[in-house]
Order: sequence, then C-alpha cells, then structure tokens
Amino acid sequence: MNTYLLFKSLHLISVISWMAGLLYLPRIFVYHVENLEKKEVTNIFKTMEKKLYNYIMMPAMILSWLFGLLMIHSLGFNIFSELWMQIKGILILILTHYHFYLGKCVRQFAINQNQKSSKFYRIINEVPTVLLIIIVFMVVFKPL
Ligand code: HEM
Repeated sequence: MNTYLLFKSLHLISVISWMAGLLYLPRIFVYHVENLEKKEVTNIFKTMEKKLYNYIMMPAMILSWLFGLLMIHSLGFNIFSELWMQIKGILILILTHYHFYLGKCVRQFAINQNQKSSKFYRIINEVPTVLLIIIVFMVVFKPL
C-alpha cells in the first residue's frame, strides 16, 4: 500500500469535514443572534454550536494538520521553497486562527456574552470560502 496516498486521502477527508464546520458554524451564529429572545431555541443553538465545534471541527482540524504534516515529512521540508506551499502555509495559518476565533465565539454564546451582530457573522462567513478557493487552486496548479 502507498502510505503517501493513504495520508493524502485521509488529509482530504479531514479537510472536507473541517471546511464543512468552518462554513456552517457562523451560519448557526446568524440564526442564534436573530432569535436571542426565544430561550428554548437559543439553548438548541448553543448545543449545536458546542457539538459541531468540539466533536467535528476540532478533531477534523487536528487530523488535517496531522496528515498534512505527515505528507510534508514524506516529501521533505524543501517543499517550502515552492511558492504555492508558502502561500498555502500562510492561508492555512489564517484558517486555523479563524477556527480558534470561532471557538471563542462559541464560548461567548454559551454564557450569553455575544457582542456581535448577525451581519458581522454573515460577513465573516465568507472568509473560509475565499481561503478554500485560493488553497485549492494553489495545491492543484502549484505555481512555482
Ligand atoms: C492544516 C494544514 C495543512 C497542511 C500541513 C497541508 C499540507 C498538504 C500537503 C503537504 C499536501 C501534498 C501536496 C502535494 O500534492 O504535493 C496537501 C495536499 C492537499 N491539500 Fe493540504 N494541507 C493543509 C490544509 C489544507 C486545507 C485547509 C485544504 C483545503 C481547504 C487543503 C487541500 C489540499 C488538497 C486539495 C490537496 C491535494 C493536492 C493534490 O493532490 O494535488 N489542505 N496538503
């Protein structure tokens, strides 16, 4: 069995799951903010946010990093001399930062301390979309 291709497949499965969460969690925040006066509904949103972040996004993020780093280990660290990998590196750091920012929002919603509007969450929801498009073009076209 080709171990590298196994890592790549597991990397792609983890990245798809991670991206699904990064794209969906801010949508839940939008509905949450727009229904703050309905106590029963907001409790459901709190549970959805916590479960999505802790049980899907967190493991998926860790596994995306793990299998990505295992591929870098197989390919050799001079992969970082290539422009596409440098750009991808910067974008995945931004994506990871965004991930932890969403975690902070989950904790604020949990204690009813959210300060942001639904418009804010609608706007930041575009961040992972833009990063996803650029990352996929980078890894597929591999500009030098
Ligand atoms: C979390 C940290 C990440 C690391 C360390 C990492 C690293 C890597 C490495 C080393 C490869 C192999 C490149 C090659 O084919 O030569 C790869 C492939 C790939 N990565 Fe990542 N990656 C990460 C996150 C992501 C994210 C967030 C996305 C998408 C949004 C992504 C999408 C892809 C795709 C589509 C491939 C397959 C490219 C191909 O087969 O041509 N990766 N990744």
